[in-house]
Order: sequence, then C-alpha cells, then structure tokens
Amino acid sequence: MKVVVTKSYDESCAYVADMICKLVNEKPNCKLGLATGGTPVPMYKKLIEANKAGKVDFAQVRTVNLDEYCGIPETHDQSYRYFMNTNLFDHIDIDKANTYVPNGMAEDVDAECAAYDERIQEFGGIDLQLLGIGHDGHIGFNEPADHFSCGTNCVELTDMTIDANARFFANRDDVPRQALTMGMQAIMQAKAVLMVVSGADKAEIIRKSFCGPITPEVPASILQLHPNVTLVGDEAALAGLKEEGLV
Ligand code: F6R
Repeated sequence: MKVVVTKSYDESCAYVADMICKLVNEKPNCKLGLATGGTPVPMYKKLIEANKAGKVDFAQVRTVNLDEYCGIPETHDQSYRYFMNTNLFDHIDIDKANTYVPNGMAEDVDAECAAYDERIQEFGGIDLQLLGIGHDGHIGFNEPADHFSCGTNCVELTDMTIDANARFFANRDDVPRQALTMGMQAIMQAKAVLMVVSGADKAEIIRKSFCGPITPEVPASILQLHPNVTLVGDEAALAGLKEEGLV
C-alpha cells in the first residue's frame, strides 16, 4: 500500500484529482469507480476546473458509482445520482449515458444488482476505484457484518451510518434505511484503489482498517489484500498509522 500524508485536506484533494487526471490522460476510455459522501466534493471541483482548463477530457470515460439509496428517486436532492450530476457530471464533458449509478427504485432488486455487476464485467472491470470510508469501516455501503459481500447487493444501513448521513437530510427519519452497494468483488478487482480521508475523526477506523485484523467487522480491512491501494489523507486522519509506524 502506498500512503500519501498531506498537510491539508485541500492538498489531499489536489493529489487525488491529479491522479485521476493522469489516468484519464493516459487512458482516455478508462473506467472510473466513483464515490459520493462529503469527502470527495472538493476533489470533484478540482476535476471540473481541470476539465474547463482543457487539462483533461472525459468524453470517452465511463463511470460506475459505488452505491445508491433505496426508495428515493434520482431526482431527489439526496440521491447519489443527483449528487453525481450536480457535483461533477453536469459540469464536465462526460456523456451521461456512460455514467452508471445503481437504481435504488428498482422493483426487482436482485435483477438490478446482477445487471450492475454484469455491466462492470462488460467494462472489463474498473481501472481506478475511488473510496471514502465510514466511521464504522464501511466502503461503498458494505457495512460491518459476519461475512464480506461479493456482488452488488442491498444492505440495511447501520445506525452509525444513518446518524452520519442525517446531516444531509431535514430529519434523521428521512434517511433511507436501505441502499444498493457494489460488493467487495468489484472493488477488489479494480486495478487500482484510491482512498481519500480527512480529519481526526477517521484516524481510529483507518488504523483498524490497515493495521488490524482482516475481518468483515471492519469492511475496509479487506483492502489489505488488494495489491494496488493508495491511501491519501491529512496528518490528522493518518495519525493512527503514524503511531503504528506505517508512515
Ligand atoms: C459513498 C460511499 C461511502 C462514503 C463514506 C464516507 O458513495 O461509498 O462509503 O465514502 O460514508 O463518507 P464521507 O466522505 O461523507 O465521510
């Protein structure tokens, strides 16, 4: 694993945006796995700036997002499709037909999950998967469990995740209780994984994920088995790794 310790969140976002731009420039038809959440938002702004400045061209890129809430339409301002459109896709030269987010309104959830995995396989897999991490160690919405998930699946969100995401909704009760998430198979098969973290509140889960046992109780710990992970974070978020002597 490569660990990149930055002086600030902004520097982390710049590093990650640069990595993505480099990949897109080297492989214009690459497949990017994308994440939502608060952490990548400034990084997406940097991608928009780079695109507007003519430094990167997304016309041939395909994207596949990690997850989507169940039961809210894509027009809902908290759906992850809406998030991706407003934070990135609406502002760059990507063909939206080449951007995929699971359909959280699908009537046949199993068919939707299977189709999502088939699409990723048709792509030939993901070149670079961007990840954040939840305080409980979730990646995508793969929550702590007694086994690692395999394919795209429907999950019950934990109280910790509902609490964390309540900040985006008018009331905690409005936060959907279920979500569709890419499973560990597609994440682990990505050619490269790029995790971005910020802030002292993520330090303990980062330590557990990368220095503790590999266990589905800490879903991100599976990344210890991935051959090409880059973890980018500020000093506060990576303080636990420093204590463990990993950086
Ligand atoms: C979102 C996702 C989640 C977030 C995680 C961290 O697509 O996959 O795993 O990355 O919940 O969210 P923030 O960045 O808001 O702390």
